[in-house]
Amino acid sequence: MCGIIGINSKKPVSASIINSLKKLEYRGYDSAGIATLHAGSINEVKSEGRVDNLEKNSVVQNMVGTIGIGHVRWATHGLPNSINAHPHSSQNVSVVHNGIIENSTLLKKFLVSKGHKFKSQTDTEVIVHLITENLKTENIVNSITKTLKSLHGSFALGIIFKDQPDLIIGARRGSPLAVGYGPNENYLGSDSYALKSMTNKITYLSDGEFCVIKKDHVEFFNEDGIKINKKVLELSSEEEKYDKGDYKHFMAKEIEEQPSTLKNGIKEYVDTSNNDINIFNFPWKTNEISTITLIGCGTAYHSCLMARYWFEELTNLNVNVDIASEFRYRKNRFKKDTLYVFVSQSGETADTYAALSLCKSKEMKTCSVVNVIESSIARDSEFVLPIHCGTEIGVASTKAFLGQILILYLLALKLGFLRKDLKRELFNKKLKDLKELPDLVQQTLLTDNKIQTISKTFNDAKGSMFLGRGFSYPIALEGALKLKELSYIHAEGYPAGEMKHGPLALIEEGMPVVVLAPRDDYYKKTISNMQEVIARGAKVLLITNKSKDEIISENIWETIEVETTNADLLPFLLTVPLQKLAYYSALKKGYDIDKPRNLAKSVTVE
Ligand code: AGP
Repeated sequence: MCGIIGINSKKPVSASIINSLKKLEYRGYDSAGIATLHAGSINEVKSEGRVDNLEKNSVVQNMVGTIGIGHVRWATHGLPNSINAHPHSSQNVSVVHNGIIENSTLLKKFLVSKGHKFKSQTDTEVIVHLITENLKTENIVNSITKTLKSLHGSFALGIIFKDQPDLIIGARRGSPLAVGYGPNENYLGSDSYALKSMTNKITYLSDGEFCVIKKDHVEFFNEDGIKINKKVLELSSEEEKYDKGDYKHFMAKEIEEQPSTLKNGIKEYVDTSNNDINIFNFPWKTNEISTITLIGCGTAYHSCLMARYWFEELTNLNVNVDIASEFRYRKNRFKKDTLYVFVSQSGETADTYAALSLCKSKEMKTCSVVNVIESSIARDSEFVLPIHCGTEIGVASTKAFLGQILILYLLALKLGFLRKDLKRELFNKKLKDLKELPDLVQQTLLTDNKIQTISKTFNDAKGSMFLGRGFSYPIALEGALKLKELSYIHAEGYPAGEMKHGPLALIEEGMPVVVLAPRDDYYKKTISNMQEVIARGAKVLLITNKSKDEIISENIWETIEVETTNADLLPFLLTVPLQKLAYYSALKKGYDIDKPRNLAKSVTVE
């Protein structure tokens, strides 16, 4: 999960490269670097930390090279420092890389035996010396094909050569890479977001392909070095306002945007005049599908867990859920009548993409639920259900989670109705209730002040638990993940009914425990589990929904009541206070909310 940029222009490129690297920082921000070519020599500058540190460097400010590559890093091999930052260069070659070279140790041994000297602890550096070695006997294209065939693992590469003042090479296997076309200049980037400020004409490389980027044209080749033609896509040119506006953080903005992003999603799919759900061009007949398998990572996995309850409630389909990094290595029993659904905000998560590729290799039915419609997962799925949430910059996913579960809920409703598992009148009622969801989320966002004070208790604790049953269990997991990834506090989501089977031993005096207990079918049972933890000294934050019935318990530390609605929709409302709890907890700690330590927005490595 790093970010790559390359620019081949008639004018100096360092400023544009730095600007693009800033847009790519969401992919990794341990360190950054740039290399440009000028007057027959490669000028390389690298720095620890953010791109700003690189930008302040006077050498960078005076770079005049018209060809260059840049990189933001999320460390996989070697400490996050300036030596291990990319680019990695020899006298003749400079390389930026996103991915993992799995046979780097073996290759390094071979290259050292050939006299190559290594400076870093990274796997990437073997690529530099391998190309340098192959250039001794091959021309550029052949040295690239030969090098790529020797690499095991995944890569998106940007490469410049001391002796080639008019070209940049890009190559892709397993990590995303795009080409952009500009006026008298052309670009290479990890994704369209990095290129959008310079062009909306994009070509995506597919695995095994590489390209030669000149100032006035780009050539594409397959892994055997045979020239191929590639489509130029015209992306929506309106440059969405990516700035934070008056918000302190992108995450704060994205939490508040949820009523409108849900409204977008409902508008895109719900046909109010015919009281129906439009899932256009769904490529399968419902009688061809007997099982749904939902696959994702992190928050996207929690979306899958949430959807399971809806598919079980609204359809008679069999439902499986799996974490992508587990699914891809499991001894799966692939079935033709199973629809495999891949959930991913970025559409570039390596494990989810690999799981999709595995299903495609078995000729399975594949559908993706994504936010980035130009992404690899979207492009490689048979069918795509966009969530229409707009760019999500905060590494901790918020609006995309609600967007994912909305689309999965609509898919469950639609399939249930088409299969006649769900009667028309119940289908109509649920669609009618759904229309109120954005406003209900808007009202729930007003729980702000209470949450701000509550979050302090979580900060002072050495750990916390998030408990829920049924529909609330996936939300408990999501709430715990938000607190972990933003405030670096240990938090565990757990099925409330499971506490007595061991984790109850964790409960001690004053430990904060969030209990999600909406007035649904699980309410009474969850309240008894809540009393079990209160009896052992826990400080319980109860999150339920408004009701005329009294809450049947005492000694509850704090209670938050969300609006009342159709039970299907309560998970959306329960999520909002948990997002805010994590946000305010991290804010109080002074942590970087949009770029938490050790994380990145799109995990494009295993
Ligand atoms: C969510 O807050 C995390 N940043 C992370 O778990 C994320 O959901 C996961 O990496 C999956 O990303 P994707 O949705 O882009 O595939």
